[in-house]
Amino acid sequence: MTRTFVVTGAASGIGRATSQLLEARGEKVISVDLRDADIEVDLSSDEGVEFLASEAARLSGGTVDGVLAIAGLAQPVAKTVEINYYGTIATLESLRPLLLTSAAPRAALVTSMASLFPPDDTLLDALLDGTRATAMERAEELAAGTPEQSGLLYGTSKRALARWLRRTAASADWAGAGIPLNGVAPGVVTTPMTAGLTASEADRAALLTQVPMPLGGIFGPEAVADLLAWLVGESNGHLCGQIVFIDGGSDVVIRGDSTW
Ligand SMILES: NC(=O)c1ccc[n+]([C@@H]2O[C@H](COP(=O)([O-])OP(=O)(O)OC[C@H]3O[C@@H](n4cnc5c(N)ncnc54)[C@H](O)[C@@H]3O)[C@@H](O)[C@H]2O)c1
Repeated sequence: MTRTFVVTGAASGIGRATSQLLEARGEKVISVDLRDADIEVDLSSDEGVEFLASEAARLSGGTVDGVLAIAGLAQPVAKTVEINYYGTIATLESLRPLLLTSAAPRAALVTSMASLFPPDDTLLDALLDGTRATAMERAEELAAGTPEQSGLLYGTSKRALARWLRRTAASADWAGAGIPLNGVAPGVVTTPMTAGLTASEADRAALLTQVPMPLGGIFGPEAVADLLAWLVGESNGHLCGQIVFIDGGSDVVIRGDSTW
């Protein structure tokens, strides 16, 4: 039977590849993005998320089988934290009621191998256990700081999102409601987000010194789409709170056997 998916970030890169894959399999996709989507909305604002929830309810007829929260930003600005952390969580929480009437509800989000880089601890603590106002104040401080400081915004937002996933997936709202909630952590994937970093052979070689990818190097978004499609497919009934690193080996190289 045709399943209905809400895909954020669907206008570009990994979200676009995922939407195309699901549609090619005959599934119904409700695309969400700032532009070129069924629901055009800024997910970093409360009003945007309210609009998402009402439009998704209207376009789906009240039942969504899978939510793919893919939209994100990797710029050294505070908005990166607002969409990657708050926007992703709000997307999942606001669409959760529509999953409850599905026979096989699923949800997935996207972190990054960059979540392995040392974070800004003040921002990380504020995101996980403080208020949004305090976290955004720290994000603005970092954005206005040195390139090293503003460069911490992306990885810190993704590490916080990974921790949120671990704290949330086994709760009554998700596992308790029969909804597998999981994530993927890509390495470097060729999308508009990374275009400026992967343009030349020299750029790619420099990037791979920071992000070691011994298995096949930098790759295209279709591979991530395939994994995301499995995470939200009916056959995934028992994965809970897992983040699958689809990264050519950077997690293994960086964390070694400290993680299992
Ligand atoms: N490309 C990579 O190497 C890579 C690696 C690890 C993780 N990721 C993550 O994968 C996800 C997709 O990235 P991508 O590479 O496809 O990037 P992309 O820039 O090609 O696509 C991201 C999409 O998200 C949308 N978006 C951004 N802010 C939004 C907002 N406030 N409201 C609604 N939509 C918004 C953009 O408009 C864009 O269409 C992101 O979460 C990114 O952090 C990417």
